[in-house]
Order: sequence, then structure tokens, then C-alpha cells
Amino acid sequence: MNNAILMGFRGTGKSSVAELVAMATNREAYHMDDVIVERAGRSIPELVEEKGWEAFRDIETAVAQEAAASSNLVIDTGGGVVLREENMTRLKASGTVFWLSAASDTIRSRIQDDTQRPSLTGMKSSTEEVDELLAERTPLYEQYADHVIHTDGRTLGEIASEIIDIVCGA
Ligand code: S3P
Repeated sequence: MNNAILMGFRGTGKSSVAELVAMATNREAYHMDDVIVERAGRSIPELVEEKGWEAFRDIETAVAQEAAASSNLVIDTGGGVVLREENMTRLKASGTVFWLSAASDTIRSRIQDDTQRPSLTGMKSSTEEVDELLAERTPLYEQYADHVIHTDGRTLGEIASEIIDIVCGA
């Protein structure tokens, strides 16, 4: 299995980088959130509002399993894919996992105007909750990453080329 799996918090550039890596390595970009939206027949904010985060996570797990059963993909995961071990066990078995890491300030500035990313905690806004969630998730990202790709202060092209070099064995 030769998938490239991009994981990391919201706002780390996974979707755009996935397109660049897919093009350069002759793979297909597979955007898990887009598949979830298609399958749920509603946007992520609507799905979460109507059915809650558990329902979102259940669809995410089904989609992760499907992606992991295919090959030749660049899989753009949602930031919370690491919350269920079964997701990562399958995905990791299907290829190489890249963690796009970023400092919380970078993440906050990248997600501040986005209306498609509802609060994950339900207590704080998406920007206010970044520190708390990063602290919770960083050990998981560390645990599953085959390669750590730093994104602070770098262009999408620079980030993508680091991944492309690794995928192509340069
Ligand atoms: C989530 C991140 C989102 C999306 C959903 C949940 C998370 O994806 O899957 O809103 O738990 O961090 P992005 O990382 O692409 O924003």
C-alpha cells in the first residue's frame, strides 16, 4: 500500500498540500471531509448541529476504512482522525503518515474567518479552544507520525515538496 496520509490540526494546510502532492506523485487526492459531507448530505456544521460529534466521528471512521482499503491516494484527513485508534491503525497500514505540525498562533490565524469549522468543545470558540485541543492531540499526532513536517512560516509549495521528496525516495 502506497498511500500518503496527511494528518494534523485544522488549518495546517492539509487539503491544499494534498492536491500538490497528488499531482506531483501521480496519486489521487482523497479529501475525507468532502466524502463525509457528501455521504451525510449536509455540511459539517449542519451535521454536528443536527446529530452531534459522535455521528460525525462514526462516518469519519467508515470513510477512513474505505480510504485505507484503496491505494495510490494522498489522504487528507480531518484534524480529529487521531481520536479513534482504529482509524489510525488502518490508515497507517495503508501507507506513510505525515504530520503537518503548526504552532497554535499559526493555526488560530489560519482558521479565524472559517465558518465551516464548528467548535469542537462546544464551550469555547474554534479559535479559543486551539491550545487545549493541541495539548490533547499532540501526543497522538506524535505517536502515529512517520514524518513530522513543520509548516510555520512556510509556503504550501515548500511543505508539499518536502513530502514529495520523501514519497519519491529522494
Ligand atoms: C475536525 C477537523 C475538521 C473536520 C471536523 C473535525 C477536528 O477537518 O474534520 O470539523 O476534530 O479537528 P480539518 O482538519 O480539515 O479542518
